[in-house]
Amino acid sequence: MSLTVYRKAHFNAAHRLFREDWSDEKNKEVFGKCSNPNYHGHNYELIVGLTGKVDPETGYLIDLKILKNVIKDEVEDPFDHKNLNKEVPEFKNLNPTLENIAIVIWNKLRARLDSKFGISVELYETPRNFVIYNGES
Ligand code: NI
Repeated sequence: MSLTVYRKAHFNAAHRLFREDWSDEKNKEVFGKCSNPNYHGHNYELIVGLTGKVDPETGYLIDLKILKNVIKDEVEDPFDHKNLNKEVPEFKNLNPTLENIAIVIWNKLRARLDSKFGISVELYETPRNFVIYNGES
């Protein structure tokens, strides 16, 4: 029997969307207010789903304490109250869009969680704007 368990998490972070190889004018045209050179913040809401089979011995898919700690180590501690562009190495040369943040989170979780689990990352930048990434290219 296969099912999905979910864990919610939250972080606040600042970012700026821009390309260094573009003029200020072009950045403003493409990224609008999100290209403000002085950065701006979002309250990100994260929902991580793990899909797999229930262990008949424990009745668990995974001990949720394990998932909680992995999310804390890989997402909350490195991202919360940070400037993503300046303080998070993954975004040194990668635009911290909602899409790219979700992909980075997925890759970090994939490296820490048993390969028997499918992973989905649902990331909200605002209550209305969100992305879901499950590792498919
Ligand atoms: Ni933004």
